Amino acid sequence: MSDVATYRLLDGKQCSEAVRAEIASKAAAVTAQRGRAPHLAAVLVGNDGASRTYVESKVKACASVGFRSSLIELPASTTEAELLDLIAKLNGDRDLDGFIVQLPLPKHINEEKVTLAIDPSQDVDGFHPESLGRMVLGLPGFLPATPAGIVELLRHYGVPTAGKHCVVVGRSNIVGTPMSILMSRNTEPGNCTVTLTHSRTKDLTSITRQADILIVAIGKPEFITADMVKEGAVVVDVGIHRITDPTKKRGFRLVGDVKAQEVAPKSSWFSPVPGGVGPMTITSLLLNTLKAAQR
Ligand code: GUN
Repeated sequence: MSDVATYRLLDGKQCSEAVRAEIASKAAAVTAQRGRAPHLAAVLVGNDGASRTYVESKVKACASVGFRSSLIELPASTTEAELLDLIAKLNGDRDLDGFIVQLPLPKHINEEKVTLAIDPSQDVDGFHPESLGRMVLGLPGFLPATPAGIVELLRHYGVPTAGKHCVVVGRSNIVGTPMSILMSRNTEPGNCTVTLTHSRTKDLTSITRQADILIVAIGKPEFITADMVKEGAVVVDVGIHRITDPTKKRGFRLVGDVKAQEVAPKSSWFSPVPGGVGPMTITSLLLNTLKAAQR
């Protein structure tokens, strides 16, 4: 049997490089015009290792496209009132184009309150209800970074979507739910018939097997196996997990929500972990920040 893979890679690194080159050239124009670079602030509360890694990647990405960034680090003991005070200050900071508060937050802070406190004009994560409402209605606004990054990835590689059956696995506020809306909109990419599945879905396999485009954001390592996927499907893996692996120098390996080694060979297009959706999420944040600076 031949081992040659027939699928094509949805390469988020390559796509990001192309999009970031465009962002850098537009950022230079904004900087020249207003005499200051686009400026993103990121708030990190507490000591979650993964969150720190993400925020540091975002700050680094800003520098790579000529943006200014500010990292605001607060201890895990920060109270909800203190964080809300900071957000009020950032909302009024004319030196900023947008800011994000990295999630998850420590348990004693209500994430919903925090999300609602961010002024929609500064909400470059696209998490505020006004941003989500604008997305649903197709009005201009900030799109949530991960779903927007996936749409950009499909656009970059010219993956046909119109009329296809897109199955989304997972209904989180920041990925699954907005993803289902973006794929069903009358836009290109878009125009899919969408099924949104979740933990209460019955006979999930019978549904995922009908997917022309399968987008998986369930947060469970290697959850989607080959028997759950139709031959020739487009598979987008949003998950990222560290799995202990003593054979690796660093003691772990990264896997997604999809069992890549058995699903990729069945796919027509496949997004790897790492190097698929991850870089696109950060690129979307840069796009939103540029949009904010161009106002
Ligand atoms: N936590 C996981 N993903 C994200 C994201 O895109 N933005 C923020 N603020 N927190 C996150």
